[in-house]
Parts: sequence; structure tokens; C-alpha cells
Amino acid sequence: MSDSVFASVVQAPEDPILGVTVAYNKDQSPVKLNLGVGAYRTEEGKPLVLNVVRKAEQMLVNDHSRVKEYLPITGLADFNKLSAKLIFGANSPAIQENRVTTVQCLSGTGSLRVGAEFLARHYHEKTIYIPQPTWGNHPKVFTLAGLSVKTYRYYNPSTRGLDFSGLLEDLGNAPSGAIVLLHACAHNPTGVDPTSDQWEQIRQLMRSKELLPFFDSAYQGFASGNLDADAESIRMFVADGGECLAAQSYAKNMGLYGERVGAFSIVCKTADVATRVESQLKLVIRPMYSNPPIHGASIVATILKDGDMYTEWSVELKAMADRIISMRQQLYDALCARGTPGDWSHIIKQIGMFTFTGLNTSQVAFMTKEYHIYMTSDGRISMAGLSSRTVPHLADAIHAAVTSVA
Ligand SMILES: Cc1ncc(COP(=O)(O)O)c(C=O)c1O
Repeated sequence: MSDSVFASVVQAPEDPILGVTVAYNKDQSPVKLNLGVGAYRTEEGKPLVLNVVRKAEQMLVNDHSRVKEYLPITGLADFNKLSAKLIFGANSPAIQENRVTTVQCLSGTGSLRVGAEFLARHYHEKTIYIPQPTWGNHPKVFTLAGLSVKTYRYYNPSTRGLDFSGLLEDLGNAPSGAIVLLHACAHNPTGVDPTSDQWEQIRQLMRSKELLPFFDSAYQGFASGNLDADAESIRMFVADGGECLAAQSYAKNMGLYGERVGAFSIVCKTADVATRVESQLKLVIRPMYSNPPIHGASIVATILKDGDMYTEWSVELKAMADRIISMRQQLYDALCARGTPGDWSHIIKQIGMFTFTGLNTSQVAFMTKEYHIYMTSDGRISMAGLSSRTVPHLADAIHAAVTSVA
């Protein structure tokens, strides 16, 4: 038999985030703990399907008028309208003036990719500035879409907080018109967000330099527990009448991870431009995946359009956010109780799903080997994967790593 025509294909490395779960699955230890992937877990360590999602699904199943026909290229119209209202605000003038175009995409990643492909084809500046560090998939999504990726300073390891002066300096030096990726809230991986005042300064600088904001909103409601508060940064940029882009994901805030539900919006200056932009978005989407799936978007639309279900969702969302906040406090208290060397207050100051612990690669490797705790090598831990039961084990591991590994 002759060799495979693919014999020269080399083994690709595991994805740095999803690879953590692959390694975790192979571990036989009963105390193993996966803090790698950003997925919510209950106190019992189980994945959670929200009650309101189960209810919406039941309603959809019981409605025999529903069929499985293709959606339009842009997705479910109701879902798009409701998603725009959720992120830009129910009374957003941009929506009322029909200046917003929203298309249903494959969760946050698909939304980013569609947006990036559109920009690569139709926007004059091909450079996108992303924060340093950022979610590991960002540079790949943007590069493959045809944009050129540069970084701006974001995180200061010595304060474990925002490098605000570095950020302003780097954006100030970016060429006029460049695209800037901004995490709307709960920055991944650092858990560090600008304050409202800092956002306002970022906005002024970006508008004065005509930098184009591209918001990634993967955690609306998950950071503070409040859907409006977590959209404040985006709304500041929309309120000034300027243009911006936003990628929305329902993976975390509605727990719809595997349903792949998201939306991509462009806020334009006029309704006429928005219509033409949408016509071009369709040309991006059609040869990519033709049209998006119907089930997840129908769940979201069912919940968002019903006042009671919307309220029920906000309550369940707040409970998830609160559980994560309480895990921060418990981990912080456990480290203080052990007298673990160093200042750990960043654990309670950071926000959202992740804590950027400041542990180095060797310390992470030690914790995996000796304590069966899995996380990305940059020391990021998913607070959502933690419970009151597992906090002591993690605190023991951090204490041992900090005191025995340089
Ligand atoms: C910052 C950020 N953007 C986008 C995503 C995309 O997630 P999804 O494609 O599952 O919606 C994630 C998920 O971890 C994220 O953290």
C-alpha cells in the first residue's frame, strides 16, 4: 500500500485552553480539579442548565407550529432585535434611528470572525490593536480573517491591575483609523476592567484619534450580576453618536455554551449605511456557513421577549455572578488564613469568571503535578469551576507552590 497523501501532515499542538481539559480528563486522581476552561459549575461542581432555559425549551417543543426551515442568512429577526436592545439598551437612540445592523452568528467567536472578515473587506485600516494579554483565540481569529494584529498594554503585573498609562500611550500612538478590540467587561484573562472614569478617557482618546472600537462582550451580566452595568462601556461609545462594533455571546450569561448563540452588531452613522453594511455582512456569511442554527436563538428570543422570563433569567444570572464573587472571597480568606506570602487582594478586586493569580508557569506545573489542579499556564483560574468544598485544596496548592517553587 502506498503512503497516505496526508503522510506529511504534522501533529498540531493542543489548543492552550481546551488542551487543559484534555489533560484533566486523562488524570485518574479523585481530587482533580479543572479550573482551565471558562464554564460555570454549581457548588456541586456540575454544569448548569438555567431553569428559564429549560422552560423556554419546553415551550418551543410544545409549539407544534414551529418548523425546522432554514433561517435567513442574518438569522432570527426577533433574536437580532432583542440582542441589540440587550446590549445597547432598550431606549438606545441608535436602535430607534435604525442605525444598528445585527446579525445572528455562531456565539462570540463566530461574531468576532464575521466582524473581522467584514472589516478586512470593507474598512480602510487593516490593523487591529488587542490588549496584552487577551483571550488566546483573538489573535488567531483576526489574523485568519485578514487583519494585522498589534497589541496595546493593558495589564501591569506588579500591581496586578490595569496599566492605564501604558494603554493610553499605546492607543495614542496607534495610527488614526486603527481598529481597537475592547473587552466590554470582565476582561479575560486578567479580570481587570477600567473604571467608568477610565472608560470615559479611553473613549475621548479613541474618538479624537478616530480609532474604531470593536467590543467583545462575552460576559454581559456575568461580571457584576447586572446586565445594564456590564454594558456601560459599550453604551458610552454609542451615546456619543460615533460608530462601533460589538460581538455578543450567550454562552456564559445564559449557559448556552454548546448551542453557539451570539450576535454581531455594527452601529453606523445613518440608517442608509446600516442597510448597505448588512447587505455586505450577508455576503460574508453565506459562503461561510450559509445561515445560523435555529434552536439556541429561539431559546434566547423566547426569554428576552417575555417580561417574566427575562426577570427570571436576571435572577438566575445574578445568582451565578454572586456565587463567583463569593468564591473570590473564600479563596482570599483561605490564603490569608494560611499566611501565604504575598498580597492576594487582587483575587477580590478582579471581576468576572477568571482570576489572574500571578502564579508563574513553574508554579502552575507544580500544582498540576502535585495537586491535580488544572489551569492555563499563564496562571489564570476559572473561579466558576471552584466550590466551597474545593477552595481549601486550591489554597493548599497555591500556598505550597508559592513557598516551594520560585
Ligand atoms: C473574551 C472572550 N471572547 C469571546 C469568547 C467566545 O466564546 P463563545 O464563542 O463560546 O461565545 C470567549 C470565551 O471564552 C471569551 O472569553
